[in-house]
Amino acid sequence: MSVITMVFVLIHLLLGVASSLVIHSIPWKVPCPHQCVCQIKPWYSPQSVYREAPTVDCNDLLLTQLPTSLPPETQTLRLQSNLISSVDQSELEGLVNLTELDLSHNSFISTRNLKITDLPAVLSLHMEENQLRHLPEAAFSGLPNLQELYLNHNRLRSISPGAFKGLGNLLRLHLNSNHLMIIDRRWFHSLPQLEVLMTGGNPVDTIQELNFKPLGSLRSLVLAGMGLREVSERALEGLLNLESISFYDNNLTKVPKEALQKLPGLKFLDLNKNPIQLVQKGDFRDMLHLKELGLNNMEDLVSIEQSAMENLPELTKLEITNNPRLSFIHPQAFQKLPRMESLMLNSNALSALHRQTVQSLPSLQEISLHTNPIRCDCLIRWVGAEDDKPVRFIEPQSTFCSEPPELKARRVKEVSFREMADSCLPLIAPNMFPSYIQLRHGDNIALHCRALAEPEPSIYWVIPKGLRLTPSTRYGRYQVLTEGTLEIFGVTAEEAGIYTCVAQNLVGADTKSLTLKVEGSGRAQITINQINEDSLQVHDVTERYALLSWHTGHNIPTARISWIANGSLEDHQKHSIRILAGTRGFNLSRLQPGTHYKVCLHMGSNDTSCVHLRTKEEFILHLWADLTHAILLGLSAFSMIVMAVRACQLRTMYDWKEYEKTHSTILTQEAMAFIAPVSLQQDKDKLSEGGGKALSDAKPAQDVPGTEKETF
Ligand SMILES: *[C@@H]1O[C@H](CO)[C@@H](O)[C@H](O)[C@H]1NC(C)=O
Ligand SMILES: *[C@@H]1O[C@H](CO)[C@@H](O)[C@H](O)[C@H]1NC(C)=O
Ligand SMILES: *[C@@H]1O[C@H](CO)[C@@H](O)[C@H](O)[C@H]1NC(C)=O
Ligand SMILES: *[C@@H]1O[C@H](CO)[C@@H](O)[C@H](O)[C@H]1NC(C)=O
Ligand SMILES: *[C@@H]1O[C@H](CO)[C@@H](O)[C@H](O)[C@H]1NC(C)=O
Repeated sequence: MSVITMVFVLIHLLLGVASSLVIHSIPWKVPCPHQCVCQIKPWYSPQSVYREAPTVDCNDLLLTQLPTSLPPETQTLRLQSNLISSVDQSELEGLVNLTELDLSHNSFISTRNLKITDLPAVLSLHMEENQLRHLPEAAFSGLPNLQELYLNHNRLRSISPGAFKGLGNLLRLHLNSNHLMIIDRRWFHSLPQLEVLMTGGNPVDTIQELNFKPLGSLRSLVLAGMGLREVSERALEGLLNLESISFYDNNLTKVPKEALQKLPGLKFLDLNKNPIQLVQKGDFRDMLHLKELGLNNMEDLVSIEQSAMENLPELTKLEITNNPRLSFIHPQAFQKLPRMESLMLNSNALSALHRQTVQSLPSLQEISLHTNPIRCDCLIRWVGAEDDKPVRFIEPQSTFCSEPPELKARRVKEVSFREMADSCLPLIAPNMFPSYIQLRHGDNIALHCRALAEPEPSIYWVIPKGLRLTPSTRYGRYQVLTEGTLEIFGVTAEEAGIYTCVAQNLVGADTKSLTLKVEGSGRAQITINQINEDSLQVHDVTERYALLSWHTGHNIPTARISWIANGSLEDHQKHSIRILAGTRGFNLSRLQPGTHYKVCLHMGSNDTSCVHLRTKEEFILHLWADLTHAILLGLSAFSMIVMAVRACQLRTMYDWKEYEKTHSTILTQEAMAFIAPVSLQQDKDKLSEGGGKALSDAKPAQDVPGTEKETF
């Protein structure tokens, strides 16, 4: 349990207690017990008062009982690592100034063998690493002035409600690493002065309401390594002077924000090593004295959401490090943190840190970003911008770009502003969610999908049926939350299949898919033989583009369209583009007039459907376009606005926001979507490889903002 020890040391440092490192010792000329060493040694009282203490050191001597003829001036008696199983008052009689008695790592089975009736000078008793199983009533009443009591690493299963009776001066109580299953509030009634309580490493899975109520003087509480799953709202009530609390290494899945609100004086908070997935809006809010917060070593943490930390006027240091899945920090995650100086974000899975995040911290002095897969594009460009207020980078020599390939292994600080791309494609971190999940019938699950990009990307999910679900929608057993999390409630065999998250902005899109298997529902449903259903239809052909649509009852993240002009076998006449998941239509543009095309939709290796079409001759352009348009309008019950211009044109020609509104209901998601290829010749190679990132080169899809259901 060295971890607990470390936490203990940390707390000591936090509370400004000097540890009694042996710096010097001077000889003490007295008749010393056989094999023991007698010296004057530095000693600190539990309240950090320094003394030079006559010390008898009999550690590691295989003693089975106390040595005889101890010098009466002895203040510190060390008997660590012996075989002593009982001590009698008579053996210590006459040691009127004995202040510290160290019996750690001995053979005590019961405190009944600690037959001390009155040693009023003793301030510190070490009984750690013995084999105590139970503490009876008034177990230490012979030590009325005790300030420190160490009982860690015993086998305590039970402690009587009045075990600590008579210890009204106790300041520190160490109960780490025992077998306690409850923490009993009654223990604390006799400990009104207690300042430090360590109960870590006990299998206490719940803290009852008002569990610590009598401890109004407590300054530091360590609840590490206890398997805590939750901390109820009133669990910490009454700890009005608590400054430091550690929840290190528990099973908390959420920040216990209600409980923390009951700690008005909290300065140091350690939530390290808990299975928290999201730090959510309001998790840390209005904690007026919080100075340092640790969210490190969290295997499951994926995202720090908008307003996760808000109005923490004294927060100066935030450590969010060594979280292997943490890939997203919302640009507005931190709000009203006027004194934040030190932001530690190293060793996560961050591809970027948004400029806004940094700008929202007016007192920021240093930042640590090394050991992250930084993508050197427009999002991280602020690092090299000279006009910015200087923020010191910790270990800049090991803060590298890992993307794009041409900047790989360059130091982020050394890449000039100009070298970094203007565009920021959406990027869904590879470890945001696994690519395969197996659930049992009836399970619930939340799949988080976030992406950083500039402009801010929109996110949607495609479910196995091929439907798109955009944020803030509910559909059957599904719900997509505003931030991009897909929740599935009570899965059945119906929900098995392929899920795809798509993040897109004007510049492009990124996707990530997952196969969900539901136990007992056979193989994850990867549907084939759907050729008829998927068959491709042509809706409009002009001289330079053709509108295509298809129907599909399932999600195929790897769909692709290919086309060949005039039956040519030459490579430059063959084209291919990947289709975003959830898309059911495509504007095949940049075609040549008067040309025959064979267009195929590939939904899987054996599922291809093709059509032949001929583009109009250029000279009859106007007539035909008008006619077709009129006919289409007359025949179909909805109107379409399709955007399929190059992104750069789009940016100047349209206000993208206007179109985003159309993503709000299931009806519009169901409707047809179109994508246009960029430059066919250029992108042919990249796109035909079918890699996920190639999609980024495709244009964003656009839902039809109509209100009627798709009728194809
Ligand atoms: C105990 O401490 C007091 C005060 O420091 C001192 O006067 C006294 O001599 C000490 N007694 C012994 C037995 O050392
Ligand atoms: C914490 O939760 C995990 C997973 O649910 C479980 O395997 C583990 O035993 C729990 N730990 C404790 C101490 O309860
Ligand atoms: C296809 O053939 C037609 C007629 O032969 C020709 O006008 C057209 O330019 C050709 N298109 C391409 C892309 O080669
Ligand atoms: C595709 O068809 C071939 C031959 O008909 C067959 O061997 C193969 O298993 C099929 N692949 C899939 C994924 O169905
Ligand atoms: C298809 O794309 C072409 C070329 O980008 C564009 O001019 C045309 O308006 C688009 N068609 C529709 C129906 O949006």
